[in-house]
Amino acid sequence: MNATQLTITVMYCAVTAIGVVALAAVIATTRRSKREAGSEPNIEKMERGENWWAIMTVAILVILFAATFAGIPWLNRANADSTVQVRALQFAFVAQPASVPAGTIDFEVKSDDVSHGFALYDPDNVMVAQIQVLPNVTSTVTAKLDKPGPYTIRCLEFCGFNHHNMIGRIEVTQ
Ligand code: CUA
Repeated sequence: MNATQLTITVMYCAVTAIGVVALAAVIATTRRSKREAGSEPNIEKMERGENWWAIMTVAILVILFAATFAGIPWLNRANADSTVQVRALQFAFVAQPASVPAGTIDFEVKSDDVSHGFALYDPDNVMVAQIQVLPNVTSTVTAKLDKPGPYTIRCLEFCGFNHHNMIGRIEVTQ
């Protein structure tokens, strides 16, 4: 298991655990038997609970934002060593130039026809960059490519009968 797979697995487990706890809380707080029949619901207690949920939700969003902000790809654009233009079309990717030296690379991807997904895989078949590609829009994604070798571009958006064969290549040299 590589670092990306581990991160995804840990995050998936964390999200699942939060979901299970939330579901358990909903079940625990809505069970009829906990209240005596005919008694009035405690509005004040419910309001306190709602405020607590609101604060927790905002706190989770703020923590996620702070933890992931530095990883936003477009913040690192100014440091790119080279730029590769990629044309996406039914059903191919054409990269220009097709070979770049290792380093930080900007990919400027444009579609000739419909929506495509641009996904870049390193020589070990690990995804290193991904962006949605729309007609008449240039989508830019930056990737740090340190491993020399053949990289594969695959389409991740269903774009027609030959979508699964929409594959491109780019060579990263030392
Ligand atoms: Cu292009 Cu699927």
